[in-house]
Amino acid sequence: MGVSEPAMPPDALTRVRMREALALAEGSVGLTEPNPRVGCVIGRSDGTVLGLGATQQAGGPHAEVMALRDAASRGLDVRGAVAWVTLEPCAHHGRTPPCCDALVAAGIGHVVVGHPDPNPLVDGGGMARLRAAGVAVSMSAAEELAACRELNIGFLSRFERRRPWVRLKVATSMDGRTALPDGRSQWITGEAARRDGHAWRRRASAVLTGIGTVLADDPRLDVRLVPTPAQPTRIVLDSHWRTPASARLLPPPGPVLLVGLDELNDNARALEQAGAELLRLPASTSRIEFGHLLRVLAERGINELHVEAGATLNGALLAGGWVDECLWYVAPKLLGSGRGLADLPAERGAQALAGSPEWHWIECQKLDSDLRLRARRTDEPANRGDKGLSPGLTAPQGPGVDPTGARLQNTP
Ligand SMILES: NC(=O)c1ccc[n+]([C@@H]2O[C@H](COP(=O)([O-])OP(=O)(O)OC[C@H]3O[C@@H](n4cnc5c(N)ncnc54)[C@H](OP(=O)(O)O)[C@@H]3O)[C@@H](O)[C@H]2O)c1
Repeated sequence: MGVSEPAMPPDALTRVRMREALALAEGSVGLTEPNPRVGCVIGRSDGTVLGLGATQQAGGPHAEVMALRDAASRGLDVRGAVAWVTLEPCAHHGRTPPCCDALVAAGIGHVVVGHPDPNPLVDGGGMARLRAAGVAVSMSAAEELAACRELNIGFLSRFERRRPWVRLKVATSMDGRTALPDGRSQWITGEAARRDGHAWRRRASAVLTGIGTVLADDPRLDVRLVPTPAQPTRIVLDSHWRTPASARLLPPPGPVLLVGLDELNDNARALEQAGAELLRLPASTSRIEFGHLLRVLAERGINELHVEAGATLNGALLAGGWVDECLWYVAPKLLGSGRGLADLPAERGAQALAGSPEWHWIECQKLDSDLRLRARRTDEPANRGDKGLSPGLTAPQGPGVDPTGARLQNTP
């Protein structure tokens, strides 16, 4: 801190500083919801680092202010310095004053922005405000831009598409079974994969399942196997309010949202008494309509939605094109008969054989004896962000995660 590194060309320095800022932001995963994860490094073009910061919990200071405070606490002068920040600084009064004003007031000479902020309250206004105050503003290179996009893929989805980023997690045997014929599925994968799954839950604003899974497994759906600063909201799609009042997901930690269609019955009221929030959607169809649901969840500030459901709900979400990313754990076991990972209409098979791939793999990693695979929809423009995947930045941290982050390997 305050010590010069050997001089680097400006592009190389920006790459290094932006990667540091990304790593700082990664440290606030799970903390900032519904706000984005943002990191900021303040330094000079000679390589001196003056201040580091990451956005705190909603209502707390943003990354830029944390970095300015860090420099001030060390008595370092930031006038004329550069601020590398992973997301466009805010220009509006929210729960905190605009970061642009703080940067200008501190005399920052140049701001390098990792990714524009599509929030209509910002949307280029942060950069315009800085320029109007005489601060030089530039964007980081394409590779860092993609990594910054990846870091806040859910937040960006919420503003760009008005819906959360939907990540569907499944754990299967090698023959693609998610449960035995009698419904038992605990546990198909080993401990490392389960811990890794919890690290992905921590990334999400909410974890969603179907009533079928609640009745079969009575899951808690919270984050227990990795440390977390907060718990995601647990959501159950339960059209007829069948969740038992004794369900293990009802008590804390973390809020619970039950989504249904029917008029509230006695059981629904008991669930409310037990602390759940009930959301009744218009019963215009016999099933919960996902487009409507995702819009409502986005309005509630849900950025990344982590789905852990059975074949019925998985199939309905996949068939409707609502899933952006599949997070798939495969155990080296053969279960033979049992439930598949998604109930899909039969005609899809023929379409899939004839057409071009609907999905592409973005990751393959070994976790002890299991595999973690990730795939994204090919036709989704937001999936351009996967170019930014890089070890240690986008993978969740946690004991189950290989920090070397092997990617796209055919032989793990
Ligand atoms: N291995 C894994 O990764 C994994 C993960 C989770 C679960 N599982 C296993 O999956 C099994 C349960 O699967 P499941 O298929 O019975 O249950 P599910 O997919 O978890 O839930 C299905 C239920 O969701 C409700 N739902 C509400 N809106 C819906 C919509 N628009 N489309 C479809 N469903 C909607 C429906 O009930 P209502 O109409 O009553 O609302 C439906 O019956 C269990 O054996 C469990 O162990 C495995």
